[in-house]
Amino acid sequence: MDVARVRADFPIFERTFAGRPLAYLDSAATSQKPTAVLESERRFYAETNANVHRGVYALSIEATEAYEAARARVARFLHASDPAEVVFVRGTTEALNLAAESLGRARLERGDRVVTTVMEHHSNIVPWQMLRDAAGIGLDFVDIDDAGRLRLSDYDRYLGPRAKVVTVSHASNVLGTVNPVREIADRAHAAGALLVVDAAQSAPHRPIDVQALGADLLAFSGHKVLGPMGIGVLWGRKELLESLPPVAGGGEMIREVHQDRVSYREPPARFEAGTPNVAGAVALSTALDYVERLGWEEIASHERRLWEYSDRKASELLGDRIRIFGPGTAKDRQGLQSFSIRGAHPHDVASLLDSEGVAVRAGHHCCQPLMERLGVPALSRSSPYIYNNEADIDRLYDGLERIARLFAS
Ligand SMILES: Cc1ncc(COP(=O)(O)O)c(C=O)c1O
Repeated sequence: MDVARVRADFPIFERTFAGRPLAYLDSAATSQKPTAVLESERRFYAETNANVHRGVYALSIEATEAYEAARARVARFLHASDPAEVVFVRGTTEALNLAAESLGRARLERGDRVVTTVMEHHSNIVPWQMLRDAAGIGLDFVDIDDAGRLRLSDYDRYLGPRAKVVTVSHASNVLGTVNPVREIADRAHAAGALLVVDAAQSAPHRPIDVQALGADLLAFSGHKVLGPMGIGVLWGRKELLESLPPVAGGGEMIREVHQDRVSYREPPARFEAGTPNVAGAVALSTALDYVERLGWEEIASHERRLWEYSDRKASELLGDRIRIFGPGTAKDRQGLQSFSIRGAHPHDVASLLDSEGVAVRAGHHCCQPLMERLGVPALSRSSPYIYNNEADIDRLYDGLERIARLFAS
């Protein structure tokens, strides 16, 4: 991949921090945005802005067509069989809350169980905990092994007759682990459970094929895949979506409203109450064009190269003063690296790196159950993407080496 050319598409890299170019290593939190995406959103508001599905005038029809074309673009991105399977939401968090609440109302009874994992982001734990507390649903957590991979044998234990939903992240935002979703889907289905997939971390890095994954519902956020904040997707199998109730009521989602009764439209409209983020959806489709034009193979080999380079730098410069979490092989992991530096608090690590223009994340990464499982209060995380190069990794590890020396003395 020609990283210099990619970088030139991202205006944020014209900025400097601490007098140095920005080494942005926090793309797992949110990606930066190329000019094409910014321009796509601007152009929608400048040239096509009107509310959708409402007007009979030309501009509103154009806006509606742009919105529905974005839906079809997302359907292609996910290898979905029908654009009607794509529900636009604010992001993964809203998608998973919608999934949990709707399944909770339609499919789960007191005493039924949901199987999640200990490596999930809070947005794939808390909505199910809310269901547990409100509706008496049991919640089981599949554990991880020492390498940070799911203990698949736990599913044998948890997939009993009351297990109705299995939910899992495609890739972990802390460990980088890529989970064997298809295998988990097959096990879930054999036990009569549905599979909900959190694809927030995988969608930016690898092709998503909802059919091949065997998912029933799947969520991702636009802002991690070069798109704007405030737009994301809940994809669902058509027959499943048709059987699920809405959780938000209002304009656009109804068929008829009378004082004594209400009926709802077919999906996806049923799940999209109110004015949607049309400009966001349009810009997301531009972002997906950008990513797919780069090519998944190119992205994967670039990220693998950076990961191997990071790994080598870590052992050469820091040795046992750094502890890196997650699988140690490139095969079933993504390029992010969560780590601790001996004697240094992750927040101090991130602050000191920031003073050199290197942006990494520190904290619990919205994964407190995982932090507890790993026995750490917090971790630092470097998450490179398509616009990062070896020079960014050099700056990270030169900084970490200085920090490790400082805290050792
Ligand atoms: C694995 C995972 N799931 C869910 C989310 C939540 O995404 P959002 O904040 O865009 O809703 C994140 C964000 O960091 C994530 O990494």
